[in-house]
Amino acid sequence: MSEHITGRYEGKVALVTGAGSGIGRAVVLRLATEGASVVGCDVDADGLAGTGKLLSDRGQHANLVTADVTSQSDMDGLVAALPGGRIDLLANVAGIMDYFLPVTELDDETWDRVLAVNLTGPMRLCRAVLPLMRAAGGGAVVNVSSIGGLTGSVAGSAYVAAKHGLIGLTRSVAFLYAEDGIRTTAVCPGGVATNIGRTAVPRVPWAFGRLEKSFGRAVRTADPDEIATLVAWLGSDEAVNVNGAVITSDGGFTS
Ligand SMILES: NC(=O)c1ccc[n+]([C@@H]2O[C@H](COP(=O)([O-])OP(=O)(O)OC[C@H]3O[C@@H](n4cnc5c(N)ncnc54)[C@H](O)[C@@H]3O)[C@@H](O)[C@H]2O)c1
Repeated sequence: MSEHITGRYEGKVALVTGAGSGIGRAVVLRLATEGASVVGCDVDADGLAGTGKLLSDRGQHANLVTADVTSQSDMDGLVAALPGGRIDLLANVAGIMDYFLPVTELDDETWDRVLAVNLTGPMRLCRAVLPLMRAAGGGAVVNVSSIGGLTGSVAGSAYVAAKHGLIGLTRSVAFLYAEDGIRTTAVCPGGVATNIGRTAVPRVPWAFGRLEKSFGRAVRTADPDEIATLVAWLGSDEAVNVNGAVITSDGGFTS
């Protein structure tokens, strides 16, 4: 991680999902470095412990909570853990893939889980924190979508539908709450070196073969911190005029 310590987040509170790995972990580290008080959640307790160790090695701290974004009660507990009931940035980062399943081979369980984690979870957290932001006079939401939210050629049907849906949610919230001083944006990464491969084992060879043809357009694989820098900027006051934007960070994959 490059050390740009700006203090942009001094005195601010951020809630980050998916904090135990990959992009979410990088967002926690970056926001903590920039002075934020961070509450991070993940289903993976070991992953959170790893994030906590990286923070403590740097003399930093975050409130890391084992919680599932598909559980309403877990999310209620997370929001209750916000210091002073305040939140300046919600970063919806947690996500899973869908084994590259085409719709004809898609089982209900995969569809339900991918939609629950990648779309319903962010909606519920928006629903929970927007009243706090409105009462405080503003805030920011950054949703991590994907280039799978812009094209059908990089994942299976459930992931593509969920990530397109997350962009729709982003635009709806951006429009409806702009007058409350709340900015909502989406980031669409291309390939990033993380642990998301756990749900990215292809299950249907013919469909994966067709998708693979598009992967040749990938120019480079990003480091998670390269996505975290964008999330941190979008969530900061420097991006005061940026609302409803959907920004790719894919090295040119979709150009
Ligand atoms: N890695 C990529 O190439 C890539 C590309 C585009 C978009 N993304 C998106 O970036 C986001 C972060 O993924 P990543 O690549 O860092 O993957 P990752 O697997 O390294 O991290 C995702 C984290 O989310 C957590 N998580 C999963 N389900 C959860 C749940 N129900 N509740 C709470 N936490 C949960 C996982 O335990 C994991 O720690 C995802 O939304 C993903 O779709 C990733």
